[in-house]
Order: sequence, then structure tokens, then C-alpha cells
Amino acid sequence: MNFETRYISLGEDTLTLRRVEVSDAPWILDFFNCIIGETDFLLSGPEDRPLSLEDEISFIKSFDKTPNSILVAGFFNNQLCSIVDIRGAFLKRREHIVELGLSVKKSFWRKHIATEMMNSILSTIRNQRSIKKVTLKVHENNTSAIALYKKCGFVQEGLLMKDLKIKENFYSTLVMSKFL
Ligand SMILES: CC(C)(COP(=O)(O)OP(=O)(O)OC[C@H]1O[C@@H](n2cnc3c(N)ncnc32)[C@H](O)[C@@H]1OP(=O)(O)O)[C@@H](O)C(=O)NCCC(=O)NCCS
Repeated sequence: MNFETRYISLGEDTLTLRRVEVSDAPWILDFFNCIIGETDFLLSGPEDRPLSLEDEISFIKSFDKTPNSILVAGFFNNQLCSIVDIRGAFLKRREHIVELGLSVKKSFWRKHIATEMMNSILSTIRNQRSIKKVTLKVHENNTSAIALYKKCGFVQEGLLMKDLKIKENFYSTLVMSKFL
């Protein structure tokens, strides 16, 4: 999926959104290794990390091999602050659906970064006329993220029970979707 670099003013600061390149792999690796310890609400945890640089490069390249897919990074005054991933499907019957994942580094929370990342990526998706549904999964107790997604027009579609096991406790995930 194409994504044109965007520069968004946040007061006196600038949020730059651009496609992640293979050469970004070391920063992307550091970003995920950092955020994984900042919240228990992610769908993957410290037990899934650390990945090697080679794994991270394969992860970045995999977006070019999957239809309707892209990995976008947000830079707050040149500091990597957020990543959004969009994954399409190979199956013809599911090619109108993409899955979205979003994270913002804790030191950048509450600066409207997630809102701007979501607005930009949703407008890019809307330009792909074939995509009719954007879907995501979110931890049942992640009230901030659920509020954000509702604000962006997502509705709860379902509840997957015992979908996550974190430190011996089970949690449900909400399936939320936005229909285009
Ligand atoms: C959830 C998350 C993405 C929000 O990022 P952010 O950049 O701080 O969000 P924004 O500043 O753009 O706020 C967007 C909206 O999110 C909600 N929100 C964000 N932080 C919140 C908080 N602490 N309490 C309640 N609502 C909150 C609000 O609805 C807010 O809209 P408002 O400013 O009009 O009230 C961020 O906290 C995060 O990355 N958390 C950890 C990882 C995660 O949960 N990712 C999502 C996994 S599905």
C-alpha cells in the first residue's frame, strides 16, 4: 500500500508520518523492546521478545509481500514515538478487510499522536476503494485504547473470551471494526 510522508503540526511540535524502511530496523527493534515493558495491554509480551535484527528485517519486509499492508512510523520532532501496522489478507473472499495495530511510546502519550496516526492511516485506507472493513483486537481492560477507537468510528463486533493469558490470568479481547 502506498503512503505519502506527512508532516502534522501539534502546537509547536511536528509529527512526521512515513513508511518504515528496512534501514529503520534497529530503531524499530528498540521501539518494540521498549514498549513491550511499558504496558500489559499489548497482545504480545516480553516473552515474545527480544527479536534479532534479522527477525525485525523479515518483519518489515513481510509488509511488502502481503497485499494491502503497510508499516508506518510516527516521529515526534524526529524521535520515533509510534508505529501503526496494517495487514491485508491473501484470500479473495477476505481482501476487503485489513487488520490494524497501533502503539505509542509511553513518554509520548496524551499528545494526540494516536489520534493523528489513526486519522492519517484511515484516510490512506479509504483511498483503497476495495477495502471495506478495518478490524482490530484490544484487551478488555484497555479503556484508553477502546475510547480512542470509538472516537475514530470503530464499533465493538465481538468478544473473544480467554483470548489472552498474562501472568497466569486470562483476559478477553474485544474485536472492534470500522466499516467503510
Ligand atoms: C491507547 C494509546 C494508543 C493512546 O495513545 P495517545 O497518543 O496517548 O492517544 P491520544 O493522545 O491521541 O488520545 C486519543 C484518545 O484516546 C483516549 N485516551 C488516551 N489516553 C487516555 C487515558 N489515559 N484515559 C482515557 N482515555 C484516554 C481518549 O479518548 C483520547 O481522546 P481525547 O484526547 O479526545 O480525550 C496509547 O496509550 C498506547 O499506545 N497504549 C499502549 C499500547 C496500546 O494499548 N495499544 C493499543 C493496543 S490495541
